[in-house]
Amino acid sequence: MTSETKSNIPVHVSLIMDGNGRWAKERGKERVFGHFEGVESVRACVEAAVEAGVRYLSLYAFSEENWNRPEAEVVALMGLMVKAMANEMESLNKNGVRFVVIGNRERLAPELNETIDSCMAMTADNQVLTLVVFLSYSGKWDILQAAKKMAAHMLACPEDVDEILDMDVNGFDKYLATAGIPDPDLIVRTSGECRLSNYLLWQGAYSELLFVDTLWPDFRKKEFHSAVEYYSKRDRRYGKVK
Ligand code: FPP
Repeated sequence: MTSETKSNIPVHVSLIMDGNGRWAKERGKERVFGHFEGVESVRACVEAAVEAGVRYLSLYAFSEENWNRPEAEVVALMGLMVKAMANEMESLNKNGVRFVVIGNRERLAPELNETIDSCMAMTADNQVLTLVVFLSYSGKWDILQAAKKMAAHMLACPEDVDEILDMDVNGFDKYLATAGIPDPDLIVRTSGECRLSNYLLWQGAYSELLFVDTLWPDFRKKEFHSAVEYYSKRDRRYGKVK
């Protein structure tokens, strides 16, 4: 079966990767060791998403709030991102993966922004899977920047004001940083925490939510396929009666 003909496979799976620090601590190691191991889980989940016929895989890699972590950890995480992107891009490209980063990129270091730009350009035409990395992202930031963009549009084009005031929720989507990316069907959070932590607040309005105890570095192909299996049994009603 092609991905288009598989039934009940989520189009977009989103992962809140949590528990790297605890995973490292359990082994008596520095937190950053958990982040290193977490990159292996990212690779496994990308492979599993392609196997399952998922078309969009997104990852909450670094929130706006994560900037408040100790500087050494932030620096280590940013360095890890650059390295992981540089190491993985050839292979992602060969496998038809389109790479996209969404978030407040003004806060990212120039080296990271350059790496992101070259990875996005290299993979722009790929169609097997879109891998979205949310970096320096938060849901409230996204909604606010969308509202500001809309206000700027109104000021620049007064002739569009009536159309904007008449728009429905779908009309607002195009101002969000995720414009063009379908809303997530399934959001999975690892490590036993049951909250969204300011992630995809608008886009996740009707997402199925799955909270698993597994720490992110232990979340590999088997766990990803189990999550897809969980989703395939859900009955989504979108507020209607069936
Ligand atoms: C949460 O665990 C994890 C993060 C904040 C970072 C995750 C990032 C990666 C694994 C790198 C991904 C790389 C690419 C290129 C996508 P935590 O530190 O909050 O764990 P804790 O709750 O146990 O402290």
